Amino acid sequence: MATQTTGASGTSEAGGQTGALPSAEFAYGDQRLALPVVRGAEDEVAVDIQKLRAATGVITLDPGYGNTGACRSAITFIDGEKGILRYRGYPIEELAEHSTFLEVAWLLVNGELPTRAELSTFSMEVTRHTMLHEDFRRFFDALPKDAHPMPVAAATVGALATFYQDPETSESLPKTIVRLLAKMPTIAACSFKHSIGQPFIYPRNDLDYCANFLHMMFATPCEEYEVDPVVSKALDLLLILHADHEQNCSTSTVRLVGSSQANLFAAISAGIGALWGPLHGGANQAVIEMLEHIDREEGSADKFITRAKDKNDTARLMGFGHRIYKNYDPRAAVLKRTCTQVINKLGTSSRLLEIAMRLEEIALSDEYFVSRKLYPNVDFYSGVIYKALGIPTNMFTVMFAMGRLPGWIAHFLEMRRDPDFRIGRPRQVYTGAKKRAYVGIDRRG
Ligand code: CMC
Repeated sequence: MATQTTGASGTSEAGGQTGALPSAEFAYGDQRLALPVVRGAEDEVAVDIQKLRAATGVITLDPGYGNTGACRSAITFIDGEKGILRYRGYPIEELAEHSTFLEVAWLLVNGELPTRAELSTFSMEVTRHTMLHEDFRRFFDALPKDAHPMPVAAATVGALATFYQDPETSESLPKTIVRLLAKMPTIAACSFKHSIGQPFIYPRNDLDYCANFLHMMFATPCEEYEVDPVVSKALDLLLILHADHEQNCSTSTVRLVGSSQANLFAAISAGIGALWGPLHGGANQAVIEMLEHIDREEGSADKFITRAKDKNDTARLMGFGHRIYKNYDPRAAVLKRTCTQVINKLGTSSRLLEIAMRLEEIALSDEYFVSRKLYPNVDFYSGVIYKALGIPTNMFTVMFAMGRLPGWIAHFLEMRRDPDFRIGRPRQVYTGAKKRAYVGIDRRG
């Protein structure tokens, strides 16, 4: 079997950009099929195989979807080789420096940066929808106190669908989106308060998005919490850097669940579940646990690196490596700088940062990591910052979910509006038993 692009006449097709492209030719035995080639706005090229199975009976096999483009998308562009990440065309470094999380959320969901009036109305709407229905108290009461805040957050977001049952229409969706963005920090803070047995703290309308979240996390009925602007700004930056990352595991989950026309709450709840795993969003918690473990038990970063390279050892260098980035993750570069600034400003202990920097230094000059193009990813430094900001370790991945929410919403909307929209349904190569006759239980021994 072979697939090659030919110089012959081709179908020209691209998401907005065009230009005659050669078609690709699929060859298997004596079958030949010309396949259209699609070019994206940044010149990435894809062979469109939609007709392949109908025409030839052959499917493609791509475990982990490393070579499969599942959709056209105009939201986020990543060039993993060059370390580029842009939301709607804007470089992540510029957004990180000049923007706010709510501005970025608007950008992702609506496609353009908001005007001053749009941002002001949007911020006001988000501020006004932060409260959870009082009946959620009984919902939280039913969950074990030692539950991890991630499944609590996933369950609560799923349960929002039982409180807001309006059919999903183009009129109702904008309100659902505002509700989700507004209630997510409240849900996150309630998940935490529930886990430590403290009363929930109501949101405050006079605080901005991150300051209000910190207030709900750390105030108690007995004591107000004064929000440190350094902490609130660093948190806002972390949310911006996590806001979208194109077709990753959780975003693809959101798209797949939404493709069955399940509602937005159900799709986001599933996305939170997908994000929880240590190979995805859960890595930020795993990184800090690794750093603490090294500090406590390993004695040195060098010793742990040796373990991470050993295939017979389960240790991995958490926060290192990425399916897409084969150069530096641009988010990690921003976070490394921020990490030092935050720790200096807050005057907190830098022991974990020192270990992290030492690990990075060794790994970046080690043949094992260099040859596999393994570099720090966004989670390598985010955990150290969360820790310095006073966010409890089991909340790190919930913070990631708060940040990723606008990206998930943007992808859900884009999928629903896509003229090529179909329910997601991959195929498989069956490797099980061939047809065989049922054996009665008395004959099975
Ligand atoms: N430590 C040690 N070895 C590693 C690591 C690591 N962190 N990551 C990859 N490798 C090795 C892996 O063993 C394999 O070696 P070999 O070719 O000898 O078998 C090679 O590098 C390729 O790795 P892979 O697992 O095939 O790569 P992948 O693209 O399937 O996985 C990854 C990407 C992020 C899951 C993986 O690098 C990893 O497990 N990293 C640690 C977890 C982590 O930090 N995850 C957060 C990702 S960024 C946040 C997000 O977007 O969710």
